[in-house]
Amino acid sequence: MYNSLLKKITRLRAHAIYVQSKGRNMFYKINTYGCQMNVHESEKIAGILENMGYSDCPENGNPDVIVFNTCCIRDTAERRALGNIGVTKAEKKRNPNLILAVVGCMPQQDGVAESLKERYPYVDIVLGTRNIAELKDEIEKVLSSRARIKKRSDKKYRCFDTEQPQNYLEIDEKTPQTRTSYPNAWINIIYGCNNFCTYCIVPYVRGREVSRDMDSVLDEVKKCVDEGYKEITLLGQNVNSYGNDVDDPNVNFANLLREIDKIEGKFRVRFMTSHPKDLNDDIIDAMAHSSKICNNLHLPIQAGSDKVLANMNRRYDSEKYLQTIEKLRKAMPNIGITTDIMVGFPTETEEDFQKTLEIVEKVHYSNAFTFIYSPRKGTPAAKMEQIPYSVKQERISRLIKLQNKITKEISDTYVGGVFEVLCEDIAPKYEGMVCGRTESGRLVTFEGTSDDIGKFFNVKISQSKSASLFGHKEG
Ligand code: SAH
Ligand code: SF4
Ligand code: F3S
Repeated sequence: MYNSLLKKITRLRAHAIYVQSKGRNMFYKINTYGCQMNVHESEKIAGILENMGYSDCPENGNPDVIVFNTCCIRDTAERRALGNIGVTKAEKKRNPNLILAVVGCMPQQDGVAESLKERYPYVDIVLGTRNIAELKDEIEKVLSSRARIKKRSDKKYRCFDTEQPQNYLEIDEKTPQTRTSYPNAWINIIYGCNNFCTYCIVPYVRGREVSRDMDSVLDEVKKCVDEGYKEITLLGQNVNSYGNDVDDPNVNFANLLREIDKIEGKFRVRFMTSHPKDLNDDIIDAMAHSSKICNNLHLPIQAGSDKVLANMNRRYDSEKYLQTIEKLRKAMPNIGITTDIMVGFPTETEEDFQKTLEIVEKVHYSNAFTFIYSPRKGTPAAKMEQIPYSVKQERISRLIKLQNKITKEISDTYVGGVFEVLCEDIAPKYEGMVCGRTESGRLVTFEGTSDDIGKFFNVKISQSKSASLFGHKEG
């Protein structure tokens, strides 16, 4: 009885999609904001939509579904998404059949789904960070309710769900995905964050840490390698905590790296992000003794002052961080290390900021992502006394200037050398050129065609320009 009812509902929903399509192709467009985790989640959204019969909307085409996969790490990220959601009001006027969905981190914040509901009455679907798999069902419900409205009701169906399901991992394993980053494949290994850095919204919007089953991860890596992917990037807010939520002590990040390294085939492995408090000797050992894990690490420092680090609840100090860097460089002398740095965190004095500049000089990062601290509602740091914006701006410009100098110095050391580069894409700014990265993560541009994408080349470096290198294929 229940089954036949379900079948009937499914038939009705499929019919509703057919009626809307009138036999033509149906298109989707996904606007992605934020980190690599979101980029990969958008691949899952694409997988769900393609399974429903939608195709990626061509440039200048008219989409039938627009999804905003949002970020709220800083105020700028939120404002960009909100501005673009606002613009779709006119699009919806032109095409009332258009379905608008807002998903991801932004609506997962306290009270935000409710305010979206009021401020954007033309948005049909709002889903939180662990509800993406519901997208198919919700689109079908919107369509079938629209088909019914025409007959007997003027109440339109809208969905607002940010409740995180208990069986999230189970659902996630079954979610289809359409990969869009060849020759790189993103693979999630852990979801959520338990660290509660006092400035950060992520633990509130991504929930507590849950690790994927190690065999499932290994199977996914094997599948990607069999399909021809040449680079695997393991993803997690803190990949080093992989397995902490599992009883078996053998399920940990170092062992995961060792198992991945044993998989046959020529491919590279990268991962992000590592937390300095959890990057232990075992992980360094697994990296150093592998042939596939790249000599490349992103290790966010955030600040150089121990007082600021304590106020941020980072749970390491500058000395511990520098010791880790020393161990990494001893084990892997050619390692490329990048970082995230924030300026203008509450309580940061000029003296504290000088310590950030000092540690940047000391570590000599390959590159650094620099941010102006942005207060996030609901986090402890947002309640502390704030630093004027002009001071933050002035500090970040000094920091960027210093890092640019170091980035160029490091780039110069590559000139004249020959490095293995995985060709990743057509170079966006140079005709007849392609680009890729060295194992250490440096971007290299060289002559080539789209046929080269996904192949490894030995490239002789002839020139450096800030973070980029230029060269030509050898042999
Ligand atoms: N899980 C990762 C990345 C988190 S978000 C990690 O722990 O490193 C990426 C970067 O955004 C952070 O490293 C931090 O430098 C920055 N960030 C996070 N919250 C921020 C805020 N409120 N304002 C400005 N930058 C922030
Ligand atoms: Fe945010 Fe800290 Fe978690 Fe990274 S480790 S996601 S900065 S709370
Ligand atoms: Fe942004 Fe969410 Fe990533 S807040 S940085 S998209 S985890």
